[in-house]
Amino acid sequence: MTTASSMPAAAQGLVNSHARRVFNYSAGPGVLPEEVLKQAQHDIWNLGGTGMGIMEHSHRTPPYDRVLAEAIEDCRTIGGIPKDYHVLFMTGGATSQNFLVPANLLGQDETADYLTTGYWAERSFEDARMYGRVREAWDGRPTRHTFVPSDAEIAWSERPTYVHMCSNNTIYGTQWRHADGSIRLPRIPEGSFLACDMCSDIYSRPFDIRKFGVVYAGAQKNVGIAGVSLVIIRDDLLSRSPRELPLMLQYRVMAKEESRHNTPPVFPIYMSGLVFKWIIKQGGLAALHARNVEKAGLIYDVLDRSTFYRGHARADSRSLMNVTFRTPTAELDTLFVAEALRQGMDNLKGHRATGGMRASVYNAMPREGCKALADFMREFERTHG
Ligand SMILES: Cc1ncc(COP(=O)(O)O)c(C=O)c1O
Repeated sequence: MTTASSMPAAAQGLVNSHARRVFNYSAGPGVLPEEVLKQAQHDIWNLGGTGMGIMEHSHRTPPYDRVLAEAIEDCRTIGGIPKDYHVLFMTGGATSQNFLVPANLLGQDETADYLTTGYWAERSFEDARMYGRVREAWDGRPTRHTFVPSDAEIAWSERPTYVHMCSNNTIYGTQWRHADGSIRLPRIPEGSFLACDMCSDIYSRPFDIRKFGVVYAGAQKNVGIAGVSLVIIRDDLLSRSPRELPLMLQYRVMAKEESRHNTPPVFPIYMSGLVFKWIIKQGGLAALHARNVEKAGLIYDVLDRSTFYRGHARADSRSLMNVTFRTPTAELDTLFVAEALRQGMDNLKGHRATGGMRASVYNAMPREGCKALADFMREFERTHG
């Protein structure tokens, strides 16, 4: 047997660099649980003794039936999703939900209110405009999206059909939250329902689906990989039909045909299924939330004790998923990112809209990753502050 130590030095480097994993603070696609990756490695080769890998299975055979049924069942268990909601897996990313929500749910003469709390919420608003009357009941642009509004700051339309919100603003690092990090929702006008982009914090903390008409999320941050979006929608909304739409674009068709009107993204759906099983093993959403509060707290604690770093988000809106901050200068920001990378901490550069740094610490980011970053931040301040 060839062991690493008996290999030439160059080959050893290859083995080591391939085996080695860094702390990955990417905003998405984000870090995945290692045991999920290992299971996938196995199942890519041979799924459950079928003699073929998950990506080679037809979406109309019993092995895939099982993958899909278990993914939906586990998704329901984790989120406490009742029977009168459908769980759908759709393609086109969360970005497609920007038009699918109004196309399926908003009549041309109806009004929808949008809470524009960040870049992605702006994008949702833009795409909705062609389907009905849409209004920004809150616009966070003038305050640079540093916080999400209180009820008193929102100016509702008279009778919006729905209210669109983004529960976590990935780029600016703000989140709808109470002081303890639990989800805070706007008090919406009577008769309307909430449509929520939960891309970057779905299944990172408990939430009551009954408060929402529809929730959607690209899977690639907390519930899997790019290529599939999770859509959880209340059944009564499936009967809405405000306009003619191609079959592929209808929630109703996706619900009736178990998210396989065409060939579905079998592998991404399988990956979501594995992540759901991992979440259950972690103790579910309450356990993950407690862990996420502690993890993000390690980094925010450094910001709070520092005169060197400045956080982007106002303290009451700080995201538990994406921590955004900067040093006093752009040059030091660049140095921070480069030095962190040398120490095995990757993808800390902030989005161009905010500059500085962004540490995305999704469910699968281990506590050690947050501790390592907090320690590095303190040391960087000591040497460059
Ligand atoms: C909050 C939010 N909404 C929407 C999107 C867009 O998702 P997708 O790339 O799946 O279309 C993202 C991607 O980062 C996001 O963070």
